[in-house]
Amino acid sequence: MSQPINFTILLIFHLLFVSSIYNDLVNNKTESFLRSLKFNLRYFGKPPWDTDIPVPELVGFISKHDHGTALDLGCGTGTNMTAFLQAGWKVDGVDIALLAVIQARIKVQAYGKSARVYFGNVSDLEFLTDEYDLIYDIGCYHAINPQEKASYRENIKRLLHRNGSYLLYAFYQSATMEYGINEEEIATFSRFMRNINQLESVDDRGRSAVFLEFRNDGVV
Ligand SMILES: C[S@@+](CC[C@H](N)C(=O)[O-])C[C@H]1O[C@@H](n2cnc3c(N)ncnc32)[C@H](O)[C@@H]1O
Repeated sequence: MSQPINFTILLIFHLLFVSSIYNDLVNNKTESFLRSLKFNLRYFGKPPWDTDIPVPELVGFISKHDHGTALDLGCGTGTNMTAFLQAGWKVDGVDIALLAVIQARIKVQAYGKSARVYFGNVSDLEFLTDEYDLIYDIGCYHAINPQEKASYRENIKRLLHRNGSYLLYAFYQSATMEYGINEEEIATFSRFMRNINQLESVDDRGRSAVFLEFRNDGVV
């Protein structure tokens, strides 16, 4: 084959490769942007999960543990954060919906420096450097895509204190829950933390959910 033909074939392959990476990047970013927009819009009203009542499993956890530091991933309007703050914990929260973050900041204002609420993405937490005794997530992990989930798990590894706990409430993957959580992901979490409790449930709309408790005790 002559040199110019070789070069043309290489150039075509190169362009196809670059354009496929570019498409992936753009599609991924667009999808993630639209999802974040959807959550932002939900807080113009009162979304059904925003009940102003702390989650009973978290209240149970608080009653059995000494206070420490906690991180709320997808903190919404901060209701669960206030349950920890009232019990003497220091809590940081992160959410991608600006209106939720503003409401959460107002809710936790009375606790001064014990609470910080960040406007950000749970898969992009490089700005956090301190380790936490507890990281919890009520309903955020199941909403993010596989790439975001992978970064999220790396953040848990980096930010969870030795002997710290990680609590997760998530819906299982289904026809109506595109990302959700699946058994393989629970196994992935279990490779770096010990799964000490797994409660299965079905909500009032028939969606299967799981409440997981992990301990970072270095046993696995
Ligand atoms: C089902 S709501 C639960 C809110 C809160 N945990 C509660 O129990 O009221 C899920 C929350 O996760 C937030 N969220 C979704 N994707 C996110 C992301 N990638 N980064 C940060 N927050 C996110 C949403 O804005 C929403 O507030």
